[in-house]
Amino acid sequence: MLEKYKQATPKSRDLWNRALKVFAGGVNHNIRTFGMVSPGAYPPYIKRGKGSKIWDVDGNEYVDWWMTHYSHILGHNHPRVREAIQKQMEDCIHLGTLNEHQVIFAEKIQEAIPYLKRMRFCATGSEAAMYAVRLSRLFTGKRLVAKARGGWHGGSDALGYHIRYPFSDDPFYDGVSFEFNDRDSVDLLMKKYGTELAAMVVEPVLGAGGGIPPEPDFLPYLREETETRGILLIFDEIITGFRLRYGAAGKDIFGAEPDLLTLGKIAAGGMPLGVYGGREDVMALAAPGAKGGRWVGGGTFSSHPLSMVSGIATLDQLRSLSDDYASLNKRGDGFREKLNQIMMNKNVNALATGYGSMLFINCLKGDFRGSTLTGSSIGEAFDKRSQDMFQARLMEQGVFGYHGLGAISFEHSEQDLEKTLEAVAIAAKKLKWEA
Ligand SMILES: Cc1ncc(COP(=O)(O)O)c(C=O)c1O
Repeated sequence: MLEKYKQATPKSRDLWNRALKVFAGGVNHNIRTFGMVSPGAYPPYIKRGKGSKIWDVDGNEYVDWWMTHYSHILGHNHPRVREAIQKQMEDCIHLGTLNEHQVIFAEKIQEAIPYLKRMRFCATGSEAAMYAVRLSRLFTGKRLVAKARGGWHGGSDALGYHIRYPFSDDPFYDGVSFEFNDRDSVDLLMKKYGTELAAMVVEPVLGAGGGIPPEPDFLPYLREETETRGILLIFDEIITGFRLRYGAAGKDIFGAEPDLLTLGKIAAGGMPLGVYGGREDVMALAAPGAKGGRWVGGGTFSSHPLSMVSGIATLDQLRSLSDDYASLNKRGDGFREKLNQIMMNKNVNALATGYGSMLFINCLKGDFRGSTLTGSSIGEAFDKRSQDMFQARLMEQGVFGYHGLGAISFEHSEQDLEKTLEAVAIAAKKLKWEA
């Protein structure tokens, strides 16, 4: 199994064996085994990236769909971004003081998302989501938060629960969950906890939970249900922000304006960043010495100059491409259709999901074409063994992804797409055959 891959990757194998002796489970992010271990292999170690391609330490080339956890919509090592970072390094790396870049960067974000009346920068998306929850608790004086089942908002204790099916783990702190795309589940939650909730946190498109787009009017429904009860609505746009359009997706694509919003990933072009912000009255509680506030913010590496200049260069470049988002999303939609066509032709229970340029493939036990998807419907049917096998087969053919694939960037060529479709067809055929 995976003999071709193993033969081509001796240096990665050596590094993996060494990594197992220093890191718990060999990795520093649990999903970075990329599904390679259960089918009896190991993940490749990547040395270099340019545009839509990456190369491993053994010199093998991959079409990259993972794109740094969906961050590199401009492609790897974009010259404008790289030059901004290099130029900044002539002045300093980080001084732990105020820098002018943070003001310029925040102004650009605010111009793109005007309802971000006040914001804060931190170093990761996890922190951003955690602080957004903390602010909601302070503002409402309530403790309970609700999240969508299957939602991944980073590793903080505030939201690190109900990530994997059957979503029955005990939250570390006061947390409950509801089913994405299921109004009955939201109604039930409101009936039970509506008066206790400080915030409801949700991604506009459920990311790691299956790549599930919202049903029409689902997000506006959440807006209504939260607004009437004084519950803060937090959109986690760490994947969708600057991915589906130049700005945020929740309001301008799906029709609901949140009270607070988080950003990360794309916004800083591959450098570490978390952003949380929104309503001025809520964000006021983060100000130093704010009445009714508590400690919000901090972070040795917050507003790191390299992240700030990288973010400025990224947004400048993306702004110049803002009219091209529509065609990028269309390309993603067309590609998703082709993927599903392949799965149907090969008679494999795998479903390509996502929205626009976000592309996921889920190996499932059962045929879910045409059904309304929720975190539980995908979670319950998820076939982990087949998923890992499928993913490993793509890797063996030089197609690098996770959650099935990942995201299309402005740098992906037609040849990249063709190569991927061929690899998917072969992986699907082998899956059927092995089953
Ligand atoms: C929707 C969403 N929120 C939050 C996070 C956490 O961000 P970070 O990994 O930068 O801590 C992620 C990361 O994958 C994410 O996808």
